[in-house]
Amino acid sequence: MPERELRTEILRIDPEHIDMEKLSLAGKVIRGGGLVAFPTETVYGLGGDALSPLSSKKIYAAKGRPSDNPLIVHIADMEHLLCIAEEIPETALKTADAFWPGPLTMILKKTELVPHETTGGLDTVAVRMPVDAVAAELIRISGGYIAAPSANTSGRPSPTSAAHVIEDLSGKIDMILDAGDADIGLESTIVDLTEDVPTILRPGFITLSMLEDVLGEVRLDPGLLDAEAMKGVRPKAPGMRYRHYAPKAPLFVVEGEKSEVTRKIEELSAGEILKGKRVGILASDDTAGQYAEALKPGCVCIRSLGNREEDRTIARSLFRVLRDFDSGEVDVIYSEAFDTPHLGMAIMNRLLKAAGHQVIEGGR
Ligand code: TXA
Ligand code: MG
Repeated sequence: MPERELRTEILRIDPEHIDMEKLSLAGKVIRGGGLVAFPTETVYGLGGDALSPLSSKKIYAAKGRPSDNPLIVHIADMEHLLCIAEEIPETALKTADAFWPGPLTMILKKTELVPHETTGGLDTVAVRMPVDAVAAELIRISGGYIAAPSANTSGRPSPTSAAHVIEDLSGKIDMILDAGDADIGLESTIVDLTEDVPTILRPGFITLSMLEDVLGEVRLDPGLLDAEAMKGVRPKAPGMRYRHYAPKAPLFVVEGEKSEVTRKIEELSAGEILKGKRVGILASDDTAGQYAEALKPGCVCIRSLGNREEDRTIARSLFRVLRDFDSGEVDVIYSEAFDTPHLGMAIMNRLLKAAGHQVIEGGR
């Protein structure tokens, strides 16, 4: 923690017409060893100079993050990859070709240039090239390498807007660049390319089947599979073993066939309302109205995450709605499961972590 509060400067940037003068102020802060929160297409990042041990230490302190949980190094140009990663396999070049710039992070062997403070003591480095134009220009103007975790206090949902960053980090960092809402709303897919078979450590917008199309065989890290079956298996991405995204109220995910899920959530909610509790429900566009009809208004806060047919809408709003429930003072939250075809794995990974894996079967 910094000893005294910093004055956090907030600069609004229009992503369509980037004001390079404002951006160069941000670049100056990063090159001078300070911290700047900035937009990316996934979530907002908390950026510092990736090659400076001191900047990385400041990032851990501002987030309240354990220092064995490594940071992602963000680059904007391919030639910079060669300076921070070595023994780069063919699979990495294919992956970069297909998905960079974009919401994908690769784990590779690190060079000497990258300090262990940035990689949480590991000899590997996580590298991402964001497609967001503000992020790319900021990286270039800051010297080429920005270490950035998600710009939230450790344990809270990742920030998808500057307002979320202000909530968590105001007074703890030098500057926040506000360029509106994040487009994807879930953090990048992480794929480990240091193993014989490429392995997904964190699911995201780039899915297993998209990676398989480019790389052939791709594995899921065993730590990602069913939590019960995998008790005791250590996930390879250190960050995946911490409790995450957790709202203040207990959250339960209700799984099963759609009509059974809504019926079960109605039943559970009615029971809590009778006890005088306030209930939050995470629903979807096609179910939100049903709950509203079934349950007494005033005791229940129903939020649709979006449209199941377009699961991007659900991914985009998940973290925002989890944060909203923290300010809305609900006592318990029930969520439908969102195992949608494209982004279901990424959405459910975050939702189940937020719920501490408390799952209720709709049919029972
Ligand atoms: O979309 C994103 O990836 C965002 C934006 C800002 O780029 N960043 C982000 O960073 O989500 P963070 O720090 O919140 O999550 C990074 C994850 C953590 O779970 C960390 O343990 C893992 O990546 N990680 C980083 N370096 C690693 C390494 N060398 N080996 C294995 N896992 C690593
Ligand atoms: Mg994070």
